[in-house]
Amino acid sequence: MGAMKLTADIVPQNLNASFAREGARALRQSKIREVANAGMGRAGVLPFWFGEPDEVTPQFIRDAAVASLQAGETFYTHSFGIPELRSALGEYTAGLHGACSAENIAVTNSGISALMMCFQTLISPGDRVVVVTPVWPNLVEGPRIMSASVETVALDFDAQRGWALDLEKLLTALTPATRLVVLNSPNNPTGWTLTRAEQQVILGHCRKHGIWILADDAYERIVFNGQVAPSFLDIAARDERVVSTNTFSKAWLMTGWRLGWITAPTSLLKDLGKIIEYNTSCAQMFVQRAGVAAVTQGESTTQRFVARLKTASTFLHRELAQIDGIEAVAPPGALYAFFRVRGMTDGLAFCKHLIETTGLGLAPGAAFGPEGEGFVRWCFASSEERLADGIARLKQGLASRV
Ligand SMILES: Cc1ncc(COP(=O)(O)O)c(C=O)c1O
Repeated sequence: MGAMKLTADIVPQNLNASFAREGARALRQSKIREVANAGMGRAGVLPFWFGEPDEVTPQFIRDAAVASLQAGETFYTHSFGIPELRSALGEYTAGLHGACSAENIAVTNSGISALMMCFQTLISPGDRVVVVTPVWPNLVEGPRIMSASVETVALDFDAQRGWALDLEKLLTALTPATRLVVLNSPNNPTGWTLTRAEQQVILGHCRKHGIWILADDAYERIVFNGQVAPSFLDIAARDERVVSTNTFSKAWLMTGWRLGWITAPTSLLKDLGKIIEYNTSCAQMFVQRAGVAAVTQGESTTQRFVARLKTASTFLHRELAQIDGIEAVAPPGALYAFFRVRGMTDGLAFCKHLIETTGLGLAPGAAFGPEGEGFVRWCFASSEERLADGIARLKQGLASRV
């Protein structure tokens, strides 16, 4: 009898029930993934839904990884990364933003991991975190994983000028009780980019109230006017409450390699090191060797890629401007057109309709926050021929919309 009772107690009644904690269950499912899953495997799909360069990683970067593997570099490294990569990133960052040393750098397995580990280092349950949106979902869901209380501040869209920040609105949200503000500039999906003047005001305010700034600088090199976007690293001292996360994915065409880094005060790195140790221990050595090649020899790769993107953006926005009912403003940076489809109120249904009727794969704007509803994201890291095919399909999809 006793044994039977025990069995009944431990066997779940409903095998479909989720055993995940509430915070995990409450995380948003990716709407981009929902559209992509609906389209993957269909014949003739033309996808622009993910933010990924369409080119393979340059040969000299791949060669560095191969040489490392051939040399038998298959072991753990220092948790902050191999000295060569930390120094190279310190010099690279100093060259772009001034004063930075290897001691400020922690190498990570991807930009996503860099962000998540910063959240783990900085956020306690219940902390107030402010995020400027629409934005790539990880920047909102990451703090939620840490049980933060997340408040979003929405950018405003103007059909002539594009996306802009209401600075007063942000400053009001940044109360003295705020622990962290998360800013992604240039922004995924809008391309919106903070100005130096805005950064100065935000930094001054955060200094006054002891608020940490987490700058996701994944697209800092993907700018269409100049070499690099204005950065908090330019105006903050290295020992302030400012942390920047970055990635090799975009600037050096290395999405699949999963390599990124954090620039942070040395005082934070001490504890960050423990977080790295308990998450990943370190990035793979052969991937780090590829990273050294990218940072030290990859400037022309970045510049060529950005020039290509600029041409692609100009082409795509010229085409979009000719379609009745589309409101699109060419962005100052990043990889995306983020445009409004007038009269469209359900982006997910619209993107599914595009897939089903034309095979065109775009991402619904609401995937990046409720203020993105009515918009669609199109990654333009693609050839003109594919973009033109996409435009033809968009016209067809718009015409057949009910
Ligand atoms: C805004 C932003 N930050 C960070 C990342 C992270 O890139 P990865 O994890 O490939 O390094 C991405 C990738 O799309 C991104 O869009």
